[in-house]
Amino acid sequence: MSENISVLGLGLMGAALARTLLAAGHHVTVWNRSPEKAAPLVAQGAMSAPTPAAAVEASPLVIACVLDYPAVEEVLAQAPLAGRVIANLTTGRPAEARETAARVAGRGGDYLDGGVMAVPQMIATPGALILYSGSRSAYDRYEQALGVLARPRYVGEDPGLAPLLDLAMLTGMYGQIAGFLEAVALVRSVKYPLTEFTSELLVPWLNAMAASQPRMATAIEAGDHRTEVSNLEVNRSGMENLVRAFEDEGVPLDLLLPMKAIIDRRVARGLGHEGLSGLAEELL
Ligand SMILES: NC(=O)c1ccc[n+]([C@@H]2O[C@H](COP(=O)([O-])OP(=O)(O)OC[C@H]3O[C@@H](n4cnc5c(N)ncnc54)[C@H](OP(=O)(O)O)[C@@H]3O)[C@@H](O)[C@H]2O)c1
Repeated sequence: MSENISVLGLGLMGAALARTLLAAGHHVTVWNRSPEKAAPLVAQGAMSAPTPAAAVEASPLVIACVLDYPAVEEVLAQAPLAGRVIANLTTGRPAEARETAARVAGRGGDYLDGGVMAVPQMIATPGALILYSGSRSAYDRYEQALGVLARPRYVGEDPGLAPLLDLAMLTGMYGQIAGFLEAVALVRSVKYPLTEFTSELLVPWLNAMAASQPRMATAIEAGDHRTEVSNLEVNRSGMENLVRAFEDEGVPLDLLLPMKAIIDRRVARGLGHEGLSGLAEELL
């Protein structure tokens, strides 16, 4: 079904979203602060709106994708939101999403927040995911249209949930990159080939280790940190070994030292018999 959809913000991500909607046969109206970015989309069949208010007026579904939430506020300030669904795919904090949802609702609109788990080049490819939270009825109404952008997943009514889960996934990613960077620093110290180490040894090992994380999540949910794998005392000793080995090789271990401190703290509380899942209790 062809829908009328407006896209506010034609940066790298907004332009990719608008292009994809056009290719899927939707009637797309676009607006961007720097108007020249609309030209390639107009050439592909989009309508260009002179103001954000005109773009909002043009369609019942409005996708906003600008730099940050203050920019979203600015763009929506003069727009007639009553009867519109605002799907905000701008990256931000859960609190900002909740505030924006309340403001949109106060002006008679319906609000969906989106966490885009993809770079622009991945939009409309099978690896792309967009998390949505907020108005269930708005999501149900537009699930099919939004589904052309990326696999859509509705995570709940609290508008803050999509950005929170987005941030949680990024947190997992940064943790993994921190481990990767430290591993590579150690391997470089002996001039071992990094690409070979990474693709043949590290990545298969990380994939095998990641497979244990759902079990750890179950343990954390249950508050049951018994382990038959390796307890915190073993991990404390392993970390000690790691720290000394990095010192021996003259490589800083800055990115992992905070984790050692948390293991030491938990063991000092007399909980060395627990598994690594017990560390979650130190982060509450
Ligand atoms: N790129 C990615 O890989 C990626 C992935 C996931 C999520 N995101 C999120 O998507 C959003 C857009 O990212 P992007 O990659 O498209 O960034 P971008 O290429 O730098 O584009 C930024 C967009 O925001 C607009 N903008 C900035 N300040 C504004 C203001 N005060 N009022 C109105 N418009 C304003 C810019 O307008 P002008 O053209 O006039 O400067 C431009 O359209 C960000 O929140 C980003 O975190 C991006």
